[in-house]
Amino acid sequence: MSQPALVVEHLAKRFDRKTALEDLSFTLDAGEIVGLIGPNGAGKSTAFGILCGLMRPDAGAMRYRGAPLGRDRGRIVSLIPETPDVYPLLTVWEHLVFAAHLCGLADGWEARAQTLLARMDMLEHRAVLGSELSKGMRQKTLVAATILAETPVLLLDEPMIGLDPLGQRGLRDVLRDLRAGGTAIMLSTHQLEAAEALCDRVVILNKGRAVAGGTIEEMHALGAGTLEDVFLEITRP
Ligand SMILES: Nc1ncnc2c1ncn2[C@@H]1O[C@H](COP(=O)(O)OP(=O)(O)OP(=O)(O)O)[C@@H](O)[C@H]1O
Ligand SMILES: [Mg+2]
Repeated sequence: MSQPALVVEHLAKRFDRKTALEDLSFTLDAGEIVGLIGPNGAGKSTAFGILCGLMRPDAGAMRYRGAPLGRDRGRIVSLIPETPDVYPLLTVWEHLVFAAHLCGLADGWEARAQTLLARMDMLEHRAVLGSELSKGMRQKTLVAATILAETPVLLLDEPMIGLDPLGQRGLRDVLRDLRAGGTAIMLSTHQLEAAEALCDRVVILNKGRAVAGGTIEEMHALGAGTLEDVFLEITRP
């Protein structure tokens, strides 16, 4: 069997006296969507921050196709963060131009950028400044600018929050297409019904540890009921 695209082993992270990640291990394969689910404070955003290089772990290893994730991980991992912070003085389109230049994208990215904006229902807002966007529009702008880079690993931290129903559907469709193209996708969410519909697998994180995980069918088999029932049972305080 081929090795998983991304292997994360024994990640640990403390902030002063608070332990954010105790011992987090999981794998992520090319062509799958995995849901990282866990209560508030479980460590999801910390894990994503470490994976994309925004923070250093205190311990643990992260490998992509067998090689440690290093300083060049920007070509491998991209993150759509929890808070949609955009550049106030750049327009929507300029965010995509910026991403294309930053990532050194090959000629022809403009057509893909246009398509992404259309799929996120943002074409008519392409000339609007970041400072004048609504929260959902900021989120859609970041989604389009991040996905444009087409990194093989894509992390999304609660990406559906703030998106209108059309935007949520557009993003789901984009993610399914990326999965079909072989992208390894992990997203955190508190919307467990949506996770059931979209994810191939979930990893349940509680107090900085992966306490359960498996395919949606395997999670259902763990208890009688929905993913939400199983989740609440497992993470009960
Ligand atoms: N910069 C920080 N300084 C101190 N503690 C932090 C910091 N960032 C996170 N923490 C703590 O680390 C733990 C994990 O936080 P994290 O943001 O990773 O949780 P989360 O699973 O993303 O939660 P949520 O569902 O609310 O987004 C929490 O106890 C939090 O208080
Ligand atoms: Mg978070």
